[in-house]
Amino acid sequence: MSANNFDNTYEYALKQDEVDVLAPYRKEFYIKEAGIYLDGNSLGLLSKRAEKSLLDLLDSWKTYGIDGWTGGENPWFYLSESLGEQMAPLVGAESKEVIVSGSTTVNLHQLVATFYKPDSKRTKILADELNFPSDIYALKSQMQLKGYDPSEHLFQVESKDGHTLKEEDIINAMTDDIALIVLPSILYRSGQVLDMETLTREAHKRNILIGFDLCHSIGAIPHDLSAWDVDFAFWCNYKHLNGGPGGSGGLYVNKRHFGTIPGLAGWFSSRKDKQFDMEHELTAADDAGAYQIGTPNIFSMAPIIGSLSMFNEVGMDKIRTKSLKLTKYLMELINDQLAGHNFNIRNPIEDKKRGGHIYLEHSEAARICKALKAEGVIPDFRSPNGIRLAPVALYNTFEDVWKTVQILKEIMVEEKYKQFENKRGVVA
Ligand SMILES: Cc1ncc(COP(=O)(O)O)c(C=O)c1O
Repeated sequence: MSANNFDNTYEYALKQDEVDVLAPYRKEFYIKEAGIYLDGNSLGLLSKRAEKSLLDLLDSWKTYGIDGWTGGENPWFYLSESLGEQMAPLVGAESKEVIVSGSTTVNLHQLVATFYKPDSKRTKILADELNFPSDIYALKSQMQLKGYDPSEHLFQVESKDGHTLKEEDIINAMTDDIALIVLPSILYRSGQVLDMETLTREAHKRNILIGFDLCHSIGAIPHDLSAWDVDFAFWCNYKHLNGGPGGSGGLYVNKRHFGTIPGLAGWFSSRKDKQFDMEHELTAADDAGAYQIGTPNIFSMAPIIGSLSMFNEVGMDKIRTKSLKLTKYLMELINDQLAGHNFNIRNPIEDKKRGGHIYLEHSEAARICKALKAEGVIPDFRSPNGIRLAPVALYNTFEDVWKTVQILKEIMVEEKYKQFENKRGVVA
């Protein structure tokens, strides 16, 4: 027991695992015997169900050849739609508002090409300075394609502390020259959850369309996109959803916008019954399916079938409850065990504002991460000095968290990190 009555014992961690209702799911995943994986917010682990659904689809190719498009257990021609339907509860949308297709960046291009309609009054896109670079590149290139100079027409809300954004600052930037707003649901570094409901309400009061990048929130927190009336959203399925490296992404379009001509059309934008008429005039689907482009990457969607079944079985509320407990416990242990080692917790502390990972800053972060990896703990380094640690509800334990902090303490006390260069690897 620590001075402030916080139970920092190993036995306490084990007790938490004993009463954890999600504990049985750990054995559904491939987890290295001796390792502690805390990088599920970057690339989720392979589950046995995802492996099976991938192998099943490989088998459907073997068995059916071309007829796999319409035959077998998961006909490929309808897979984007059927996965969209199964994913809809995770984002709080209606089935037809969600489609599994493309990738985060491609889907963002599609949605901006579709919904950014500058006119004589509204020409600007509102974003933020902490967003993931790919989103900003996509926004800039879409503006350039429409003949608008991003240096004048892209407005990025500034962060006062370099880690988080204030909703109030974003709302103040919703001026009457803004045509579109694109923001993250959860910031990729600090893990701050933005208040999507309030931001959407304020945007709509000013007649501005708003969309969110859900990469760090899908599978980590519940959403209610339809009730909040969000206009569009896009995400990847390889982080918290464990869909595999480079797996297909997803997008949501509010049913209010059904019928809006896709900015980037392709034959998979078609109404399903019309697609093989092969006409040169597109009859776009009258739902989110319209925002697909070309032939779906079937094997990049296959693992999502198995993985999603777990999320729908458990429900997002239980996942969020455990995730919050794990991240809170991790912060408490860091404060208790690592005081004096110059770590700064930069993620929001409040439950409502904290996403699925914690974010530590340290001047020696790159080599601390290398030392952690050498000890079997997999963190995530974010240049120049950030360490992301994501204890994931479906496969991490309280014991993992306890052990990680002990290993980190040993690395600091014994200065083990000094054996490594304080420089990032190619992918980190
Ligand atoms: C928040 C966020 N947005 C966008 C992307 C880009 O995703 P993709 O490379 O799948 O297009 C990532 C990738 O990690 C991300 O974390």
